[in-house]
Amino acid sequence: MTHISDVRLRPVLDSRGNKTVEADVLTEDGGFGRAAAPSGASTGEHEAIELPAEESIEKTTEHALPHLVGEVDAGDQRAVDGALYEADGSENFSNIGANSAVAISMAAAKAGADATGVALYKHLGGAFRGSNFPIPFGNVIGGGEHAKDATDIQEFLAAPVGAPTVADAVFANAELHGTVGDILDERGIGAGKGDEGAWAPPISDSEAFEIMEEAVTRVSESVGFEIRFGLDVAAAEMYEDGAYQYSDGEKTTEEQIEYMADLIEEYNLVYVEDPMDENDYEGTAKLTEAVSDHDTLICGDDLFVTNVSRLQNGIEAGAGNSILIKPNQIGSLSDAFDAIELAVENEYKTVISHRSGETEDTTIAHLAVATDAAYIKTGAVAGERTAKLNELMRIAEGVA
Ligand code: PGA
Ligand code: ZN
Repeated sequence: MTHISDVRLRPVLDSRGNKTVEADVLTEDGGFGRAAAPSGASTGEHEAIELPAEESIEKTTEHALPHLVGEVDAGDQRAVDGALYEADGSENFSNIGANSAVAISMAAAKAGADATGVALYKHLGGAFRGSNFPIPFGNVIGGGEHAKDATDIQEFLAAPVGAPTVADAVFANAELHGTVGDILDERGIGAGKGDEGAWAPPISDSEAFEIMEEAVTRVSESVGFEIRFGLDVAAAEMYEDGAYQYSDGEKTTEEQIEYMADLIEEYNLVYVEDPMDENDYEGTAKLTEAVSDHDTLICGDDLFVTNVSRLQNGIEAGAGNSILIKPNQIGSLSDAFDAIELAVENEYKTVISHRSGETEDTTIAHLAVATDAAYIKTGAVAGERTAKLNELMRIAEGVA
């Protein structure tokens, strides 16, 4: 039996140096799983509730562990996640904290996989199909909430759409990150890095577009396949007093829609995440319609928060054609699967994503393969990002 015999929780460091929750799940038959919760900085206002790590651990130990230990099977994900909800008693894990909930949910999946001796991506329901491997987006220039005095747009993402293998894609993104560094050097621009390892130069968005175009051209030529790029605008972070606040002035909703459509046209963007405020289904729908003759993914992150009812609203409104999936945004793997299922049924592409605050945990690499996601967004460099990318390559090789 893969009955849960013990759950251990502890505070560990995330990549920003903050405390987060790590969970170990052990089963009666010797299965073991360990996972840690990531944490956002540009969090959506509709996300599940994260509590301070120690408070979450204390409350989870008191209220949730009695519902898990000796009670449920680690291999039965619905039962594990159901027990977490029952113990919490709210819809958004506001009592025990979504950080402990998601850590336990992911650790239980790993324990279930370990107990049965299969790789996590297989345990999560995926048959590995090489031709459908997720394409990694690489965050190479960024600002917003992830770095001060840098671009207004939060992330400029490399998308190696023509890469023959996942390893080619991973290495192309890293090369692109390096090339952006070279171009910044050539222009005499000193730059630090933001929370996800992207360059965070003190430049305007329009200069960032120029640099991305140049870097993509150089690296495409060097690797011999097509690379495009995309954005995470994280527009909710700019939306204040009914307008989008850019460094060089504000834009109304109509102006923002037009600006986004123009950028998509001018740079042949393959992906635009959260182009509008997190409550603006209507504006997102207008933009989706306006660019429908392009192959651009219009993706909801803060808009949908991995939540089936918010995604359902979006589907009904025609807002976007893609959803970002962050398990910690909703608190459990079962919820993430439900959101993926609804997305797939409605032909919304899925993008499995890290958070700006991360750990070495690699669950999302397995989740992306298991669910046949179109893309995975997990940075380009930095150890907590490369942990996922390296795991993705191991999965592709069949040795994860
Ligand atoms: P976050 O940013 O993890 O800080 O929320 C990532 C994103 O917006 O996609
Ligand atoms: Zn985002």
